[in-house]
Amino acid sequence: MTKQTPPRVLVVDDEPSVGMIFHRILGEVGYEVISASNGAECLRVLRKEDVQLVFLDLQMPGMDGVQTFKKIRETHSKLPVIIMTAFQTVNSAVETMKLGALDYLIKPLEADKLNAVVRQALDVSKMSSTVVPSVSVAGEESDVDMMAKSPEMQKVMALVKKVAPTEVPVLILGESGTGKEVTARTVHRLSKRAKKPFVVVDCAALPESIIESELFGYEKGAFTGADNSRAGKFEQANSGTLFLDEIGNLSLPIQAKLLRFLQEPRIERLGARKGPIKLDVRILAATNADLEKVVAAGTFREDLYHRLKVFVVELPALRQRGPEDLDALIVGLVDGFRRQLGKPRLSVASETLGLLKAYRWPGNVRELQNALRSATLLADDVVLPEHLPMSIRSARPAMETQTFFAGLDDVIRKVEREHIETVLKKNSHDLTKTAHELGLDVATLEEKIKNLAL
Ligand SMILES: Nc1ncnc2c1ncn2[C@@H]1O[C@H](COP(=O)(O)OP(=O)(O)OP(=O)(O)O)[C@@H](O)[C@H]1O
Ligand SMILES: [Mg+2]
Repeated sequence: MTKQTPPRVLVVDDEPSVGMIFHRILGEVGYEVISASNGAECLRVLRKEDVQLVFLDLQMPGMDGVQTFKKIRETHSKLPVIIMTAFQTVNSAVETMKLGALDYLIKPLEADKLNAVVRQALDVSKMSSTVVPSVSVAGEESDVDMMAKSPEMQKVMALVKKVAPTEVPVLILGESGTGKEVTARTVHRLSKRAKKPFVVVDCAALPESIIESELFGYEKGAFTGADNSRAGKFEQANSGTLFLDEIGNLSLPIQAKLLRFLQEPRIERLGARKGPIKLDVRILAATNADLEKVVAAGTFREDLYHRLKVFVVELPALRQRGPEDLDALIVGLVDGFRRQLGKPRLSVASETLGLLKAYRWPGNVRELQNALRSATLLADDVVLPEHLPMSIRSARPAMETQTFFAGLDDVIRKVEREHIETVLKKNSHDLTKTAHELGLDVATLEEKIKNLAL
């Protein structure tokens, strides 16, 4: 059996219980957690150990979180760092986000949120080659209401409502961030199994040795290190729903076992001495891969594909949905962050809305959520264009909008270009003075100069 090093997470907090919480939550899903109780210790650990992700408390005696963060950046320019903050110190989190921290978490920590943030962080830092055995049993609190206002999403909802009460396996397809997991949860929630467990297994990049025991469980002594017997995810999902995420990544032998299960719902734990266990589990699966291509490439079983594609729900990309969806998602997300951040007067400037609507959203709803999370954190009361990630501010408008507004766009560009040129000349090309006069910050001005080819 192959043995891979699990991703290593460093938790920096002067409160020892925090390290223990991380140990319990992340240890359970296969991460290695090491702790440091202050900034100096954090830097010492980073000098010696290979770490993939850091959780950093803001308020610590001695070197505080912001100072520690700056020090980390001196030696580790790309290491993802997530700030942990209390409600009262959310403003300092702003400072670290501006310095390049990846995300922030507000204490007290919630297991579901923590798992999601870790998964995403390791994704973002392109750690996809590392083993990320993310397996979580979801609770009621993570059930989001699925927003579906556009005609495209109304069609999806109609399918979901139709298939939910049945026992049919469902294959959910869609680009990354389109809401495949939310859809799976919605199917479960609208099914007769709603009060029973909903178990998620992320099949991405899991080596066979781990996924097999995760899915099917094992008996004591089945392999070195199996000190106890353990029920697998299939058993945990008994009488409920098992959601196999990124199913395109399952190895062929596990695909064979899954197919067998779909034909006859029984499993056998690894190293089982007794016969198979009969189960009652509804299977939902998702992937952002083109399964037909994967089948053609020979890494996905054709018979399993046919079995799964009996009922397919295909999620359109955000840019393919009617504008109602984007509007409603923005309103819903900003509402949520307004409450979460305790900023009751938070609103979005119309210029910002314009940028959000013109963007193509290659990362779909997840990207929108991330953009609004950081923007609402950086904003005081009004979310301005400068609070948006650079990729969104500087993107060319989406194809459709571009053609539609081509004339107007060009006029605006021309006027803007001329005006900036005049003010620049007047101030002898002093950027600070010019920016001040134009009511921009220097970075925004520099960007405009670049974009307008001044
Ligand atoms: N229709 C929707 N209404 C409300 N929230 C949504 C909707 N679709 C997606 N989201 C939110 O966007 C985020 C991404 O959704 P989800 O995790 O379901 O996408 P996914 O397709 O599984 O993405 P990935 O491929 O990255 O795993 C989640 O936080 C989810 O709550
Ligand atoms: Mg997903």
